[in-house]
Amino acid sequence: MKQLFIAGNWKSTKGVGEADEWITAFHAKYQTLHTKWKETRIILCAPFTLLHFLKWRIDSLKLPIELGAQDVSPFDSGAYTGEINSQQLAELVRWVIIGHTERRRYFGETDEVLAKKVEQCLARGLQVIYCVGDETLPVPMGVAVISYEPNWAIGTGHADTPHHANRVIEMIKKKSGVKTVIYGGSVTSDNVASFVSESAIDGILPGGASFDPEAFCNLISQATS
Ligand code: PGA
Repeated sequence: MKQLFIAGNWKSTKGVGEADEWITAFHAKYQTLHTKWKETRIILCAPFTLLHFLKWRIDSLKLPIELGAQDVSPFDSGAYTGEINSQQLAELVRWVIIGHTERRRYFGETDEVLAKKVEQCLARGLQVIYCVGDETLPVPMGVAVISYEPNWAIGTGHADTPHHANRVIEMIKKKSGVKTVIYGGSVTSDNVASFVSESAIDGILPGGASFDPEAFCNLISQATS
């Protein structure tokens, strides 16, 4: 069985209290389900404000969750007011999402700025999940995982078909040389199994379906059953 990557993306949601409730509920579910999840790498990409708290909770409960951020500064440490840099993130997380559709769409992030962000992460030993909307977009060298996420499928309830996603992912793998490519865009516990059963799809990046711990655990269970 292939090792699956399931990378939840909380987007710009949740405060500390909600994060605490989520972890408590996840922990309870995990106790009953974890034997099935063994081959799965569970990543949780949370807002910057929650990373320190989540790291503490995950470490103290020994949960099998690898923590990730959703963005990073294109600059090193210094006079860049408001930015969170890769050195700061390296104390807290293993993963960083770069180039999410919402960053490109609402914050005008270009391929050039995204390449600088990747460079910053690699310099600090952070692993990058790099998002692309299709197979034509450039992918910087050194990313660990690519997430294929068609723009029209993000948060719309209209996922790509598993068959088409598989074909695009095959092309992305061929073009980029990256071995691990996952799919994101309206994945739920109902459709996840049909995505991960495709030969080229190595996992998924659920947004909305990671907000609720029950839904997220169901999704992991469906993906691994
Ligand atoms: P969604 O988000 O699962 O809510 O469509 C996917 C994503 O954040 O990439």
